[in-house]
Amino acid sequence: MMLVRILVTGACGQIGSELVPLLRERYGKDNVIASDIVVEKLKMLSEPYEVINVLDREKLEKVIKEYDIDIIYHLAAILSAKGEENPQLCYQVNINGTYNVLEAARVGGVEKVIIPSSIAVFGPETPDNPGEITILKPRTMYGISKVFAELAGEYYYHKYGLDVRGLRFPGIISWKTPPGGGTTDYAVEVFYAAIEKGHYTYFVREDTTLPMMYMPDALKALIQLMEADNSRLRYRFYNVSGMSFSARELTEVIKKFIPYFTVEYKPDERQKIADSWPSRLDDTAAREDWDWKPDWDLERMAKDMIENLSKKLRKRV
Ligand code: SER
Repeated sequence: MMLVRILVTGACGQIGSELVPLLRERYGKDNVIASDIVVEKLKMLSEPYEVINVLDREKLEKVIKEYDIDIIYHLAAILSAKGEENPQLCYQVNINGTYNVLEAARVGGVEKVIIPSSIAVFGPETPDNPGEITILKPRTMYGISKVFAELAGEYYYHKYGLDVRGLRFPGIISWKTPPGGGTTDYAVEVFYAAIEKGHYTYFVREDTTLPMMYMPDALKALIQLMEADNSRLRYRFYNVSGMSFSARELTEVIKKFIPYFTVEYKPDERQKIADSWPSRLDDTAAREDWDWKPDWDLERMAKDMIENLSKKLRKRV
């Protein structure tokens, strides 16, 4: 196993809260430093942790130096829907924050930076089932910030030799930590509502079809890409996909496990964001270059979500 020191920003978020324990298992507890702006949540992840606001470059540099960091997982970000409520904050955290992480990494001699990108880099002009090289004209500040992360990442790679890599994630579904402020959040909320109330009101139309992924696949992709041999990588940022389904199909699958479950569809402003994203994406390059293969499909994911969430919520279905 590699001997590395890893820093994770946004460690208390949906992905971070599951990635940190997994990285600690794999690389040793003391070699994985969790960071976030909320100290109370960091305490739950246990030590070692550091409070870092990614807008504070000095603190980033200090932590990188103190722990002699080799790899950064830069997960701190404002998601699409919250970013449209406050584009100024989204710009600050996602663009200035990412710039700070890249700069601090460069100055601090970090070897690799892994940054999740997103289906939000695409826009209405992107053809469906896009590959890596396609039209990137997003309509959200979040999407713009992720295009910045991809381009800046490539820039740092070519100019400074900083090994930046990333994944264009679809919506991520998980039962441990809820996502915050994304457009794809309905695919998680629906499970909580089905178990707790037997009813859910979607904020998208029933025909809304987006690419999604179950958390175990997302974690696998994050580790697999980080460990992949650089000589095999044609791109710095790769599409990854797990499954694609419409809101209606999701409802039907949940009904197989919770027959009394009922829904309504009341699209709000997030519908426009959902409509600007492709319904599926082509991840052939990831499969070829670093042996990516998702393990979870819609039916197995739904069964696992319902089993684990009903235990977590102490509610029989
Ligand atoms: N889940 C994210 C969002 O909806 C997409 O990257 O914002």
